[in-house]
Amino acid sequence: MTSFPTRLIKKLEERSEAGNLRKLAVRDEGIDFYSNDYLGLSSYETTAQTSAYSFSPGSSRLIAGTTNEHLSLERKFAQQFTHEAALLFISGYSANCGLFSAIGLKDTVFVYDEFIHASIKDGLRLSFSKSFSFKHNDLGDAERLLKKFKGQHVFIVVESLYSMHGDFAPLKEIARLAQEYGVDWIVDEAHTGGLFGKGGYCDYLSIEPLPIARIVTFGKAYGSSGACVLSSQLVIDYLINFSRPFIYTTALSLNHVKELEEKVIHSDLSQRQQQLQENISYFRAQFKQNGMISAPTSPIQTLHIGDALAAKLSEQECEKNGIHIKAILAPTVPKGAESLRISMHSFNTRKEIDQLLQFL
Ligand SMILES: Cc1ncc(COP(=O)(O)O)c(C=O)c1O
Repeated sequence: MTSFPTRLIKKLEERSEAGNLRKLAVRDEGIDFYSNDYLGLSSYETTAQTSAYSFSPGSSRLIAGTTNEHLSLERKFAQQFTHEAALLFISGYSANCGLFSAIGLKDTVFVYDEFIHASIKDGLRLSFSKSFSFKHNDLGDAERLLKKFKGQHVFIVVESLYSMHGDFAPLKEIARLAQEYGVDWIVDEAHTGGLFGKGGYCDYLSIEPLPIARIVTFGKAYGSSGACVLSSQLVIDYLINFSRPFIYTTALSLNHVKELEEKVIHSDLSQRQQQLQENISYFRAQFKQNGMISAPTSPIQTLHIGDALAAKLSEQECEKNGIHIKAILAPTVPKGAESLRISMHSFNTRKEIDQLLQFL
């Protein structure tokens, strides 16, 4: 075996010196203010999970991996999230790579929020399109790009809730802008799916017209994993033919499909949603200091720190006391934008929130 190239080792060393080397750690006991399990559904036992077998279809969807259960679940997702059709993917990462790489042809232009998730950026990189970012939630800057590329095939791309700042996109205004310029738009609902009513955030806000495509992921509030793209039947037919992350991978197991059906379609989440909102309000009311940059109803509450070492030390200090929060460091955010991310859950108790407040 040849040795690992020195310049790659150097990259690791540079990370280490900068204090932002990523390492895997086994999740331990402690107070959870860092997972995306906003409603505590990951520990909700479904009948599918009690089965001894995973019932893997042992094949990709286009070969032997499609069952009536897969098709039925996709129809139910389409109905619940008010689109004509839906397509399952093994993860949100895969859905974004699969959607954007497939629809981004050579003369396509994507105009996206600078805070967009890495999975969308990777999908764009895998496409043949051109893409340009606008300043975070800045409609004027987005419009500047729409004017620049007028007459070309343009998609605006946003997230419903941004996971670094915990702030919402102005979806109504973006829908209006897209309509005014005659372009399509797409929204990733990873961090809002399951949290606002029975459908997605666009349904909750009665967004009109709906985007051409939405991505809903199941690894966060729904407490499972996987994702679906929601769109018209035509777009879904296109993805079945051209989306490589959909085509070249093994289908979701039947157990997984059943788990998603129970959690996403059949569970009544309203009580958990309400409890989560009560916890967020309590936390915000008690935490009266400046630096909180998130929206009042967001499960992600972010405290701007602006320094990698200070953010890391705060995280470690909480950790020592059994409280898990997350320091967000470069390169995930630009240098100087380092912050502490606190993820609120429906299951966090008042006592836990008080303990966290004490350390903050
Ligand atoms: C906005 C957004 N989209 C997509 C993903 C990827 O989803 P998944 O974890 O299901 O791959 C994430 C994950 O953090 C995300 O925050």
